[in-house]
Amino acid sequence: MPMAAMNSASLQSNQSNSNVISQLATSVSLRCVECAALYPGVGDRPRYRCDCGGVLDVEAAFHHPMQQEPSLQAGFEALMASESDVKALAGAQWRQLFDERAPLPPLWPVNVDTRLPDSSGVWRYRELILPVPEQYIVSRPEGNTSLYPVGRANCGNHRAGHRQIGHYAGLDRFFLKHEGENPTGSFKDRGMTVGVTMANLLGARAVACASTGNTSASLASYAAQLGLPCIVFLPAAHVAGGKLAQSLAYGAITIQIEGDFDDAMRLVEQVCNELGIFLLNSLNPFRIEGQKAIGFEVLQQLDWQAPDWLVLPAGNLGNTSAIGKAFRQAYQLGLIAHLPRVAAIQATGANPFYRAFVSGFSHRERVQAQTIATAIKIGDPVSYTRARQVIEESNGVVEEVTDEEILAAKTVIDRSGIGCEPASAATLAGARKLVERGIIKRDERVVGILTGNLLKDSQTGIPQPKQGNAIAASIEAVKRAIANEISL
Ligand code: F0G
Repeated sequence: MPMAAMNSASLQSNQSNSNVISQLATSVSLRCVECAALYPGVGDRPRYRCDCGGVLDVEAAFHHPMQQEPSLQAGFEALMASESDVKALAGAQWRQLFDERAPLPPLWPVNVDTRLPDSSGVWRYRELILPVPEQYIVSRPEGNTSLYPVGRANCGNHRAGHRQIGHYAGLDRFFLKHEGENPTGSFKDRGMTVGVTMANLLGARAVACASTGNTSASLASYAAQLGLPCIVFLPAAHVAGGKLAQSLAYGAITIQIEGDFDDAMRLVEQVCNELGIFLLNSLNPFRIEGQKAIGFEVLQQLDWQAPDWLVLPAGNLGNTSAIGKAFRQAYQLGLIAHLPRVAAIQATGANPFYRAFVSGFSHRERVQAQTIATAIKIGDPVSYTRARQVIEESNGVVEEVTDEEILAAKTVIDRSGIGCEPASAATLAGARKLVERGIIKRDERVVGILTGNLLKDSQTGIPQPKQGNAIAASIEAVKRAIANEISL
């Protein structure tokens, strides 16, 4: 669609979805994280910020399917109530609901998509994500990613390679959740299935995002599935090859801008507001709701025994906010008995959140970002306030790691056979540092998040094949080639 055709009336509701939309407007609300102002969940135009400029957070009442349908009055009360006011159902009932759905194989039904939501590692938790009728859901499906036991003590037999990770971190009971196993190779698919479902429901004419590469790959894929025009803004020359290839291959209008991610982020917000395009960065609060599913799935995989720590890389801080919010809600609903502590890890050259943390969050910092981990090369994170709340309420920490530490940790993860992209390795580098500093105890149960697939970036921190190094196709040449590698 030519850009000129996208006017400010970006949403086109019709008879069939207008009822759903008006229900959503009352059952879901948006609260400003800065001034606590409240807005309806959906309006005539999408709203990404409060009038004060603060970002918005979704608030919704949770209804277990065994409960009665919420009346209109209850919906209205939900609009006025904060999460903690919402009457929680016993945690056991919620656990049973999600556990019954979990064993379903991720199969596509032959003619209808009815079981698809149960197979998705996001929509399985739909009552805690977004109350939307199933026919609007756009899913591949996503989630159901592995939780690898990699600690010195919890790593099973025939996993000597994986155990090296536990040795490196100095942890006995350590798990790595590999979000690079999502359909487009990163955790972004969890937020994107919800974001693009909202775009579908609201009748958006086009979608857009700024990205360091993974958000754009994910959006391009989900938009293509729906048949929706998609524009992605990337900082030129700062996006790993695999990610750029994905967005081009999925057919997104791929615009590389002069500047960094923070410039691209400012631009896309302006573009979306002026041209009426649906914004799908994590500034869109529904993306955060989808990413909460990482937290729920970790808890379910651990049989609802909350870990002591959750460690993850931090850039724009959407994921820190989302997983922390999931833990908060799981705790409030009685799904788990205690809140895990959250450790957000930044690269030293892109560490505004770390700087704020060491100052006791006395002021917000912005930096000119510089790191080899391009995914987290972000100097002015959008979700600062949301993430700060997570660190404070979970008694969490923010740590920084150098590029050298990231690369060393990446080599350990790659050599274990699991593999990840550079930003993800900040998790292991950070966990190791926090153990060395005595902040994480060696016998605590720790979950680390690997956010992206190894193939996203096939250059950074990976030995490159030497040109002209081919050998003759003979047994003698093979013997010479491996002589220094293995003794046979
Ligand atoms: N790890 C990877 C692989 C990422 O792609 C990102 C963010 C992060 C960690 C940090 O997560 O921003 O929620 O704190 N990538 C975004 C993108 C910015 O555009 O793909 P965050």
